[in-house]
Amino acid sequence: MPLYKTIKIDPDTKVLVWKITESLDELFRDKPLKDSSRVRVNGMKSEQHQRGFLSVRNLFAELGYTDLDLYYDAFGKPHLSDGKNISITHSYEFSAIIVGKNNVGIDMELRREKISKIADKFIDPEFAFLDKSEPDYIRKLTVIWGAKEAKYKMCNSRSLSFKDNMTVHPFVMDDKKGTATVTKDNFRKDFEFYFDEIEDFTLVYALEQNACR
Ligand SMILES: CC(C)(COP(=O)(O)OP(=O)(O)OC[C@H]1O[C@@H](n2cnc3c(N)ncnc32)[C@H](O)[C@@H]1OP(=O)(O)O)[C@@H](O)C(=O)NCCC(=O)NCCS
Repeated sequence: MPLYKTIKIDPDTKVLVWKITESLDELFRDKPLKDSSRVRVNGMKSEQHQRGFLSVRNLFAELGYTDLDLYYDAFGKPHLSDGKNISITHSYEFSAIIVGKNNVGIDMELRREKISKIADKFIDPEFAFLDKSEPDYIRKLTVIWGAKEAKYKMCNSRSLSFKDNMTVHPFVMDDKKGTATVTKDNFRKDFEFYFDEIEDFTLVYALEQNACR
């Protein structure tokens, strides 16, 4: 399938979603790949991971980029050579990127009941506004998880705890947006996040609050 969805946040910031229906051969075809990317994709254990990685390159092409424009830092965070910010996610048959002038983060997750079993591993203050008996409990947990993954990708530090350093403030599902804060020692950053439920998946993307856009 071609591009599934484009969300234009402002003139400098876009979210693009791909629904992966192509075969591995189709995804490899006519695609410039750096040697390091070719080695990486050939070393991936699952075809699903390979298709996710390659489909992200189809999203790059939509914005005029190729794999040659992307590099990864020592943490695994992707960067664009023109200085714009990028964040990447892939989950089963979907992949998505967000590209912007300022710091951005994105995550896509399949909504699953089993997220409730690990809720106490990534949630603490948020339990104050969550109600396990609510019908949208799983939907909310998935949004919170996605918002924290997106923030993690923006903060580029492996030492942040989802539970202790990240807080998602109360939000309403129908608003499709919320705010969140990351704190650690003297560091504090506020974020706004937006979410969209696409088929059985929850897409969350985050921007730094008050960033000059
Ligand atoms: C790295 C991590 C953020 C990736 O998230 P994920 O949900 O597994 O996978 P996604 O498909 O959403 O994202 C993968 C993309 O994240 C990007 N990424 C990897 N490391 C990154 C980092 N340190 N910073 C920013 N982005 C990163 C990459 O672009 C990667 O895709 P690519 O390698 O194909 O280009 C995740 O594995 C992780 O480490 N999370 C934090 C761990 C944690 O504290 N969990 C709490 C459990 S309670």
